[in-house]
Amino acid sequence: MARVAPRFCFHIVSLFPEAMDAYFSASVLGRARKRGVIAVRYYNPKDFEPNPKKRIDDIPYGGGPGMVLRPEPVLRAVDAALRRIRDRKQSRVWFFSPAGEQFTGQMARATVARARHLVLICGRYEGVDERVRVITRAKRVSVGSYVLSGGELAAMVVADVCARFVPGVLGKSESLEEKRVASPSVYTRPAELVWKRKRYRVPEVLRSGNHAAIDVWRKEAAEKERAKRDKKTNFS
Ligand code: ADE
Repeated sequence: MARVAPRFCFHIVSLFPEAMDAYFSASVLGRARKRGVIAVRYYNPKDFEPNPKKRIDDIPYGGGPGMVLRPEPVLRAVDAALRRIRDRKQSRVWFFSPAGEQFTGQMARATVARARHLVLICGRYEGVDERVRVITRAKRVSVGSYVLSGGELAAMVVADVCARFVPGVLGKSESLEEKRVASPSVYTRPAELVWKRKRYRVPEVLRSGNHAAIDVWRKEAAEKERAKRDKKTNFS
């Protein structure tokens, strides 16, 4: 069978590809990779370091705590990724940093609509030499206002969210569910759960088979949750 090119490819530059691969091999993403709809490729800067000691970090200029990833092995890894991309206009390069632009679903949707390759550079230690970002013209991206120990978790978040926008990644029923009214509360059997001598019933409307009424209920439930969340964030 002739292999068709994946609809979207994630090129991940990381010192710890094995930390991500279990996630990318499971569930929705794992199935999409098996079907060839998406691809995930790893580029470990250590593999691009000729020195037998494989030392890829060094002390920061100007002093300060921790170590900084040296630019050359990271740049070689990024180059290896870019060499696999025929049409560079179809690619984007992102560099993870807590100081970056906040990643959103809208950003993911727009990226998948306009590109077919996403190169994700994961930092470790105190960071990556700034010249990597300058040379690759990577966009700085953050997944939240907190500091992670490295970019790997950020890459997993970004790849997961982006992949869900790639046509053919979600199964038919999953796509339908996404389009339907989303509610933060979902239920399955039993209809009545007895837990530590208390009874917890599934809302009657969800068992009614009346889909219009169910959509109204879900919309209201989502609205209530939003209001509750906004109230909390305003006062915290
Ligand atoms: N690296 C460390 N913290 C990060 C964050 N919040 N987002 C993206 N990359 C990071």
